[in-house]
Amino acid sequence: MMNRTFTIISLHFAGFLSHDWVSWFTVKLNPLLPSLTAEMLQTVTSNTDCNAYHIIVGALSSVFDQMTSLRQQELTRIMLGYLKQSHPWSKFSSTCGSGTSSLSAWLEQSFGKFSIYVDYEDLRDLNTGFDSSLDLLSVSQVAQLTLHSGALNNAHLIEMVFDRLEGDNSFQDIEEFLEALSQTSQRLDINPVVRDIMMNRTFTIISLDFAGFLSHDWVSWFTVKLVPLLPSLTAEMLQTVTSNTDCNAYHIIVGALSSVFDQMTSLRQQELTRIMLGYLKQSHPWSSTCGSGTSSLSAWLEQSFGKFSIYVDYEDLRDLNTGFDSSLDLLSVSQVAQLTLHSGALNNAHLIEMVFDRLEGDNSFQDIEEFLEALSQTSQRLDINPVVRDIMMNRTFTIISLHFAGFLSHDWVSWFTVKLVPLLPSLTAEMLQTATLNTVCNEYHIIVGALSSVFEQMTLLRQQELTRIMLGYLKQSHPWSKFSSTCGSGTSSLSAWLEQSFGKFSIYVDYEDLRDLNTGFDSFESLDLLSVSQRRQLFQDIEEFLEALSQTSQRLDISPVVRDIMMNRTFTIISLHFAGFLSHDWVSWFTVKLVPLLPSLTAEMLQTVTSNTDCNAYHIIVGALSSVFDQMTSLRQQELTRIMLGYLKQSHPWSSTCGSGTSSLSAWLEQSFGKFSIYVDYEDLRDLNTGRQRKEPSS
Ligand SMILES: *[C@@H]1O[C@H](CO)[C@@H](O)[C@H](O)[C@H]1NC(C)=O
Ligand SMILES: *[C@@H]1O[C@H](CO)[C@@H](O)[C@H](O)[C@H]1NC(C)=O
Ligand SMILES: *[C@@H]1O[C@H](CO)[C@@H](O)[C@H](O)[C@H]1NC(C)=O
Repeated sequence: MMNRTFTIISLHFAGFLSHDWVSWFTVKLNPLLPSLTAEMLQTVTSNTDCNAYHIIVGALSSVFDQMTSLRQQELTRIMLGYLKQSHPWSKFSSTCGSGTSSLSAWLEQSFGKFSIYVDYEDLRDLNTGFDSSLDLLSVSQVAQLTLHSGALNNAHLIEMVFDRLEGDNSFQDIEEFLEALSQTSQRLDINPVVRDIMMNRTFTIISLDFAGFLSHDWVSWFTVKLVPLLPSLTAEMLQTVTSNTDCNAYHIIVGALSSVFDQMTSLRQQELTRIMLGYLKQSHPWSSTCGSGTSSLSAWLEQSFGKFSIYVDYEDLRDLNTGFDSSLDLLSVSQVAQLTLHSGALNNAHLIEMVFDRLEGDNSFQDIEEFLEALSQTSQRLDINPVVRDIMMNRTFTIISLHFAGFLSHDWVSWFTVKLVPLLPSLTAEMLQTATLNTVCNEYHIIVGALSSVFEQMTLLRQQELTRIMLGYLKQSHPWSKFSSTCGSGTSSLSAWLEQSFGKFSIYVDYEDLRDLNTGFDSFESLDLLSVSQRRQLFQDIEEFLEALSQTSQRLDISPVVRDIMMNRTFTIISLHFAGFLSHDWVSWFTVKLVPLLPSLTAEMLQTVTSNTDCNAYHIIVGALSSVFDQMTSLRQQELTRIMLGYLKQSHPWSSTCGSGTSSLSAWLEQSFGKFSIYVDYEDLRDLNTGRQRKEPSS
């Protein structure tokens, strides 16, 4: 698509003005930009002046992350070529971007996110600002330059900076440099590649001094100076660190690493856990007491591993801390619950498996019940790791599901609205299937209500899978209910029925399915049976309703399924009045009342609309649809484009002049198709537009 679009528009580049570059590269072409090739960029830049070039770089930078690294590098090469060549209109390197206030602003304007790939040599050729020999600058000036030159985003520049810092006084210089960086008020946004380089070179220097580090050195390096670089600490580096630390310093470092845990890959997290375990296992003179002053097992686990504890085996824990040794078999269920809360088991997969092994004895149903009751009575917030929660739900469900056949209503209530609540986000579709096989309509409503209350803690996929099971349950015919007639039939309204039947999951249910389940959703289908005055009443109700909606100050966040239904119903009614619509009716419906629903307008509906509109009304509607273009699927966008094209092609009495008053091709394109223009073939444009030109009086 980019290819064909580009072929067409590039013919017009020579005549492009500044606003054309803006409207094409920041709006119309935006969805296709990740497909722009180096060759295309070459063509573009051979037609642009400095301002237009900056517009294009900004646009490409905004889709940088959607390109392959190879494409990114190819485009960088073209940008560099553009900036280096001497243009007739500017002694380039001295004037393009020379109005920028800083080197980093210049770098941003000239290359955007592509700056990561530009060599320092090239930067110096282009901008004399990079020329100042770093050797002449003080360390704090180097830190300033680093912040303002974009070095935190450029591998070559940061290597230069460290080359400067690695002089006779490298330890002090690096220290001063990192202190200056950490004192800046701006957020340090370091590219991960650059950060790896910074950590590597910093570590190489400071590790030489580790042997002499005192407690406060570990604190000041690991909890202050190194913090922005810590996510780049490797297992090898941690090994070097821990071979120099005593127990206290080790705890400081674990705390620091734990605070950047979420910025690391899972692989890095596991590699570091391995080093921590190695440290704690090897015999130090002090190892017998390291952490022994902690008040509880979970405090010990926190100090020893921080967030990394999730990766430690139970066997290893037992080796390290005899507290984990106490045979669980000797403990009562409520003691097991206490141990679970205080040992960190809610964060450790191995420990929780142990706990369930203990619970699964002769009396497993009662023991699990007592255990969950004890957990749910604790005053502390249960912060269960999702992996651990999945295990707990799986093992609990395996046991209690054996008893479902005998469950009475109050059992469903007490399990699903109390005991299981902390685990419910881990309920799978398979489990819901098993549960609903055993429930009558009322009990089903209890379960739906419970699941609805933890809806937000589930993944989108899980939400959809559970909806499928609910739908299956409601559709099948149970012996005890002629379903569609009785389950939920006591509800007073359609919306109450929807809430009881699906809760928050209702957004995933198709309109078709709703109609199958509840004939109430059918009502507007009987529109033809309504009297003329009833129809008019319905029309006015809808009009008032939409007016009220569009006047609300809050953002209307209508789920697509609901919006489709609203649009379908609304359209069915208002389309009966289209024949009598005047210009101001089209304006008030399509630019005000219908706006929140417009993304749900189908091709079929647009066909109905355009068969009732003249050229002016058509332009109003295209403008309105264009304003919600980005909320439509690409498929919908293309279907609507097809209808627009059909409208413009068919011969209306007025078609010879529709749009002929526009001053330029681009204005004509905008009026005729809006943002949908990207889907129009060149052939079609030529058909439509030469027609227009022929009709234009030569002036
Ligand atoms: C720094 O990087 C080099 C090159 O990848 C590597 O050989 C060296 O071990 C690293 N240094 C540290 C301290 O990790
Ligand atoms: C529990 O997990 C096992 C292993 O993944 C799986 O085979 C089993 O079906 C699960 N049980 C339930 C009740 O989902
Ligand atoms: C509304 O939806 C029904 C059922 O899907 C469909 O048959 C009908 O054509 C739709 N109406 C409009 C105006 O699109």
